[in-house]
Amino acid sequence: MCGIVAYVGNKEAYPIILKGLKRLEYRGYDSAGVALLNQKEILLYKKKGKVSKLEDYAADKEKQSTIGIGHTRWATHGPPNDVNAHPHLSGDGRYVIIHNGIIENYDSLKKELINRGHEFKSDTDTEVLVHLIEDICQNESLSLEDAVRTALNEVVGAYAIVVMDRETPDQLIAAKNSSPLVIGVGDEDFYLASDATPIIEYTKNVVYLEDGQIAVLKKGEEIKLSNIQNQTVTPYIQELEMNLEAIEKGGYEHFMLKEIYEQPQSIRNSTLGRLNLKNSLITLGGIEEFESKFLNANRIIFVACGTSWHSALVGEYMIEDVARIPVEVEYASEFRYRNPIINEKDIVIAISQSGETADTLAALEIAKKKGATIYGICNVVGSSIARATDAGSYTHAGPEIGVASTKAFTAQITILALMALSLANKKGSIAKSRYHNLLSQLNQIPELVEKALETNDQVKYIADLYQNAKNFLYLGRGYNFPVALEGALKLKEISYIHAEGYPAAEMKHGPIALIDEEMPVVAIATRKGSYEKVVSNIQEVKARDGKIIAIVTEGDTTVREMADHVIEIPETDEFLDPLITVIPLQLLSYHVAVMRDCNVDQPRNLAKSVTVE
Ligand code: G6P
Repeated sequence: MCGIVAYVGNKEAYPIILKGLKRLEYRGYDSAGVALLNQKEILLYKKKGKVSKLEDYAADKEKQSTIGIGHTRWATHGPPNDVNAHPHLSGDGRYVIIHNGIIENYDSLKKELINRGHEFKSDTDTEVLVHLIEDICQNESLSLEDAVRTALNEVVGAYAIVVMDRETPDQLIAAKNSSPLVIGVGDEDFYLASDATPIIEYTKNVVYLEDGQIAVLKKGEEIKLSNIQNQTVTPYIQELEMNLEAIEKGGYEHFMLKEIYEQPQSIRNSTLGRLNLKNSLITLGGIEEFESKFLNANRIIFVACGTSWHSALVGEYMIEDVARIPVEVEYASEFRYRNPIINEKDIVIAISQSGETADTLAALEIAKKKGATIYGICNVVGSSIARATDAGSYTHAGPEIGVASTKAFTAQITILALMALSLANKKGSIAKSRYHNLLSQLNQIPELVEKALETNDQVKYIADLYQNAKNFLYLGRGYNFPVALEGALKLKEISYIHAEGYPAAEMKHGPIALIDEEMPVVAIATRKGSYEKVVSNIQEVKARDGKIIAIVTEGDTTVREMADHVIEIPETDEFLDPLITVIPLQLLSYHVAVMRDCNVDQPRNLAKSVTVE
C-alpha cells in the first residue's frame, strides 16, 4: 500500500505532488508528507492524517521548488504519526526517500547501522533504507545511483522508492520490486507515481518500471534505465488509455456512489467486443489462445482476496454448472503458504481489481513454478498480475477509486459468465437453447441493473431504520451465497457494523442463536432454485423475532407476507442473478455509512490496493 508521487522538471513541484497524493489517497491515508528542494535546502513537511492535513500544515510554508517527492501512508512499521510519516531523511540530511512496500530484513540492517553510529528517529523500515544508502555513498564513494543499487542488493522485501539528493537538484532516482511504479515522460520533465492517475493530466507517455529496475530521471535528459545487476535496459514507453474524467467524481458525493451507478455501463464495457449476440459467439482472447488447455484442464483454481474472492466463488458456481470443469476457490494468502498440489493440467486464475495484491501475485508465482497455466482477470491495465500471467481478460470497468469495491465485482462476474459460457459451448456441456438464452439475458443485464438502481430511495429509507444496528446477518443460497458474503463485507468495511454473510441453510448451525428483535437479517430470496428453502429460512428468523429485509423478484407476494421490508428487483436467470441482487446491498451499505457519518471512500484502516502481506 501507500501512494508515492514525485516530480522533476521546470514546473512548480508542490501542486503536482499534492494533487497526485489526493488521487492516491485510496492507497492509504494514515499520514502524508512532501520533500522539496529549494536552493540546496530540503523542505520537509509531514503530518499525521489525510493529505488535507498536510495541505493545511504546509499552507503558509515555503514550497518553491521544481523537484520534489510526496507520500501518503498506510502504516506497517510504527504507528501513524508525524515522525513515522514519509519522506525520511538520511542521518546527514542529504538524502531523502519515499517508499511503498516492506523491507523485511530492516531489523538486522538497522542493528548493523546502529553499530556503525547511525541514529534513527522513526520506527520505520524506510528510514533504515535511506541510512543504508547514505552509509554506502559515504564509505564506498559511489554515485547515488550505484549506492541505491548496492543497497537494494542487500535488501529483502518489496519496494517502490524514489530518492532525492540535496546536492543534485535536477535528478531523482527511482527503483521498484513488487510494488508498482509508473514514470510519466514529459517534454523536459518526469512524473512518478504508484499508478497513472496523478500523471494522466500532464502526459500520456509512461514507462511501467519492472521489478529489479532502477531509473535515473534528470531534467531535460532521456530516461536512463538499468537493472539491479547494472545492465542497461531500453525503456518501453507506452501510451495511457485512461482519461481524466474517469478518475473524477462527476457530480456524485462519493466515488463509491458514482461507481455503483456506473455499473450498467461498466458491465456493458466488460462484454464489449466479446459478446456477439447475433452470431451467438463469445470471444475472450485469452481463452481462445489456451483453448485446448482449458478444455483438457483437470481443475480450475481461483486465487483472490476480499471482494475478488467473492466473485471467484460465483465463478465456481458458474463454471461447474455449465462447463462441468471442477473448480476450487482459494484465499491467495492461504494458498501461497500451504504447499498446494498443482500440476501442468491445472489452470490457476487470479482475480484482482488492482492487479497488485501481494498475496494474489505470490500465489500466481507459486502456481507458475509448479507448471500450471496462469490466467488473470484484472481491472488495472498493465498491473503486476496482468503482466505475470500467461493470458487473461481485463474487466474494463474503468478506474475504481472508492476503497469498497463495487463495479469491479460486477465486472469480474461478467467476465466469469462469459468465460463459463464460452467453455461450456466449446465443450458441448450446455444445451444450445440454454446457451443462446443466457447470452441474450447477459446482454440485457445493463438494463436490469439500471432498474435495480431504482430501488435507491427505498433502500435509503431502510438504511435509516437500521443505521444504528449493532449486527447484521446476510443470507443467500446457491449463486446468491457469495452475494450474501459480499453484502456483509460491504457493510462492515464502510459503516463499521459487524456483519456476517452465511449460506441460508447454515444459519441453524450457529448464527440463529444471535437472532432477536434487534437483529436485521438481509435475505436474498429471488424466485430461483432454492427459493422455497430460503423462504423457510426466513420463517425461522421471523419465529425468533428477527427483522427481515428481503431481496425478492418483482411481483413476489409470498415473501412480502412474512418480511418486514421487501426490495423488488428485476428477474433474470439464476446464473446471472448475482449481478442484480448485489445492487441493493451495495446501496444499503453506502447509505448506512453516510448516515453514520463514516468516510465512505476511505474507510479507516483499509486500503484499496494491498501490496503488502
Ligand atoms: C483490499 C480492498 C478490497 C479488495 C481486496 C482485493 O482489501 O479494500 O476492496 O477486494 O483488497 O483487491 P484486488 O485489487 O486484488 O481485487
